[in-house]
Amino acid sequence: MAIDRIGRSPLERTLSHRTVSVVFVGCGYASDFYGATMPNYPHLKIKGAFDIKRARATTFVKEYGGRAFDDLAEIMDDPEVDVVVNLTPVAQHASVTRAALLAGKHVYSEKPLASTIDEATELVELAKERSLLLSSAPSTVFSQSAQTLFKAVGDGLIGTPHVAYASLDMGALAFMPYREWRSSRGIPWPYWDEVPNGCVMEHAGYQLSWLIAMFGPVVRMAGHTSLQLAEKWHGLRDVAPDMAMGFLEFANGTVCRLSIGWVAPADLSLTVVGDEGTLSVADVWQASSAVMWRRRAMTSGKTNAYLAEPEPLPFVSPPTRHRYTDTHDLTVGAGIADLGTALSEEAQPFLSPDFCLHVLDVSFRLAAGRGVMEELTIPRSDDVKLAVKR
Ligand SMILES: NC(=O)c1ccc[n+]([C@@H]2O[C@H](COP(=O)([O-])OP(=O)(O)OC[C@H]3O[C@@H](n4cnc5c(N)ncnc54)[C@H](O)[C@@H]3O)[C@@H](O)[C@H]2O)c1
Repeated sequence: MAIDRIGRSPLERTLSHRTVSVVFVGCGYASDFYGATMPNYPHLKIKGAFDIKRARATTFVKEYGGRAFDDLAEIMDDPEVDVVVNLTPVAQHASVTRAALLAGKHVYSEKPLASTIDEATELVELAKERSLLLSSAPSTVFSQSAQTLFKAVGDGLIGTPHVAYASLDMGALAFMPYREWRSSRGIPWPYWDEVPNGCVMEHAGYQLSWLIAMFGPVVRMAGHTSLQLAEKWHGLRDVAPDMAMGFLEFANGTVCRLSIGWVAPADLSLTVVGDEGTLSVADVWQASSAVMWRRRAMTSGKTNAYLAEPEPLPFVSPPTRHRYTDTHDLTVGAGIADLGTALSEEAQPFLSPDFCLHVLDVSFRLAAGRGVMEELTIPRSDDVKLAVKR
């Protein structure tokens, strides 16, 4: 149990505040997604921000609140900081998260938790050892679309789920003007980091988190990756594979065809096929993408039209008021809000360390693209929370 300088445990410290105090470390492109959506969560208070580029922290706090911290040590020494939100580049994730945990702070990290599974596991163990909460993006499982889909699957609207088709193909990135992309505060999109990280490490989690929340941990999988547009990244070296295909089998027996890529035209859809119909979301990057239900219909004669026309399902949760209306609506603040609530309830966040570690493990295996079926040592089922009761 990590005790702070005035002798309080993390929980006592949190409960002593009416709200949970949050500091952002790293105020680059993605920080605008967070700053813009934080007012949705009144139990979170932006205490401030720090960036090694001081001007970025200054403009962040001017826009979204709190004060600019001078360095990491100042944050770590501040007993009023409950949660560190780690929005640094991937290569910095482990060191910043480790420093925060060692200082007794709870951590919400952008994905991935760390650059290697060993480092991520070490962070998870450190958090457990110190009774601190650790959680990680993506948090789109909290979107209206995800919550509505999960409830529909759980309620048995499509009977037993058997197959899922999931895609996070964002279009041919190499042919887009990605060097000109700017956040709302004018911060350039860091293509020099994202492209070498590759499509799997950047984007697989958006589909995997939904699939694992519905069907349980992955028990068997195969992945294949390739670099299709190697010659098209002018001036960029160390480009990671831009196309990945995965074949996954989940604990409840559902199987999935997954594609993640920067080659094929945009397709960010997820379809779940059950024996009583199908459920589809057209875009998992839009918090309010409609959930379409097709019931199994009576057929006669030689027809393959065994499904009724698509019907939109009413959303089971309200929309968030504050949205970052750039290209996609990722409900990013929802993950910090979940961690904040978990703190007050003395519980683990839905995106628990074991859940995040499993998403990461599957992502690394997919990125490795070995092309052979692997049996996974799955986390205990009570370590990975499920949104759908089985
Ligand atoms: N760019 C996106 O569209 C996007 C979307 C969702 C999630 N993410 C994730 O968000 C994270 C950040 O991405 P980004 O696009 O904002 O990157 P970015 O490079 O624009 O911003 C990172 C910031 O962190 C600062 N920094 C680096 N090391 C630091 C340290 N040790 N302490 C404090 N500040 C430090 C940098 O100066 C920079 O301002 C990554 O994990 C990325 O995967 C990015």
